[in-house]
Amino acid sequence: ETFDATGLHLLPGAIDAHVHYREPGYTHKEDWRTGTAAAAMGGVTTVFEMPNTNPPTATVEALRLKQKAAEKAYVDFGLYGLLAEDNLDQLEALIEGGVAAFKCFMGNTFGNLPSPSTGAMLEGFEIIARHGLRISLHAETASIMALRQKKLMEAGRTDPLAHLASRPAVVATEAVSRAAVLAEWTGARIHILHISSGDELRPLRDAKARGVDITGETCPHYLLFDENAYTDLGPIIRVNPPVREKHHQRALWEGLKDGTIDMIATDHAPHDPEEKTREVIWRADCGFPGVETQMALMLTQVNAGSLSLTDYVRLSSTAPAKAFGLFPHKGALVPGSDADIAIVDLGRRETIRAEALHSRGKITPFEGFEVVGVPVHTLVRGRFVMRDRKLIEEATGWGLSVTRVQAMPKPEPRHVDETTAAITGGKSGQAGSS
Ligand code: NCD
Ligand code: ZN
Ligand code: ZN
Repeated sequence: ETFDATGLHLLPGAIDAHVHYREPGYTHKEDWRTGTAAAAMGGVTTVFEMPNTNPPTATVEALRLKQKAAEKAYVDFGLYGLLAEDNLDQLEALIEGGVAAFKCFMGNTFGNLPSPSTGAMLEGFEIIARHGLRISLHAETASIMALRQKKLMEAGRTDPLAHLASRPAVVATEAVSRAAVLAEWTGARIHILHISSGDELRPLRDAKARGVDITGETCPHYLLFDENAYTDLGPIIRVNPPVREKHHQRALWEGLKDGTIDMIATDHAPHDPEEKTREVIWRADCGFPGVETQMALMLTQVNAGSLSLTDYVRLSSTAPAKAFGLFPHKGALVPGSDADIAIVDLGRRETIRAEALHSRGKITPFEGFEVVGVPVHTLVRGRFVMRDRKLIEEATGWGLSVTRVQAMPKPEPRHVDETTAAITGGKSGQAGSS
């Protein structure tokens, strides 16, 4: 059996810092098998999975349930623990139990998790800072958003644009600033999820200039859609935070290029078709799948000249590896060198078809998008999980928690020259070291 990679490009597998796999609790939307199959098909070799499942990953017992569910994974994964008002006494145990990072919902979201008070956040940041794990924030202010939405509903707004009106961009800057202050105070490392506006870049830049260990992500939907999507797509485009006006989209592209935004994640948030295609915007669930389409969509942007291939690799792999302590990437010298690889065909054309997606949530705003540049093979720690655009079914269960992979003994490279030492910054990454 031969393997021919003539004409293909070899990239480090993408690391998606933001996916929702819904198991346990909402497996009619997604589960760990379908969710990680979608990752494998998308050239994504590591995902960080969010805690707004049922039960939420707020206790060690809940973490055990999620670890059990994740035994089906095709790709490696980090599990997010929840930082909430009422689980501060669980944070140490969650770290001990193997969470890779924490998530704090400052804004309301799927699963109805109440957002913690600033006091609880401060205490949580202090505890987590001692262990060096990163805290990812859904940076919207729940009280303001809820009030605003209530008013719009009372006014009888049912049009899709009402969703955008309910969550003004400038308000998100309040949450980003507050999180950055708490991080500056406690020394916590933080990450701003799903940046949707140019406004949020101001407090992000400011915090970086002050020396706060803060990173930020945006998602393909904010880069590729603007306010016209509400007319074109209706309730399907409903996502938190909302897709915004053209000038915000332009600011996000700028932010990617000047380094203010560190990475691209997907906020893969599948829902049942029936839950997405409601006639009234307020009744449509927020979010849509993304982990399977990210690489093809962004390689299409590379082909169009909007982004260099080098920048894409930094945004999709190197930056998340560094931010979440996988650098040196799970013991490798540079991301991908532990054979977490996406082999891509930069010239291949395809049309995104929702029904062909491996995710259980079949409704995507990217339906019908023509892409140029697709992952054709995916390897996780040297093993094919996708080959010739086909899922390797038997590879279910090959995916491991990144905290476990990092604990495995690594062969020492025999010759580490000065250049390599400079790239890897000496020896070990962030996670595990405190
Ligand atoms: C996410 C979900 O459905 O879990 N939805 C979304 O609109 N982004 C939750 C979230 O990331 O806030
Ligand atoms: Zn969110
Ligand atoms: Zn999310």
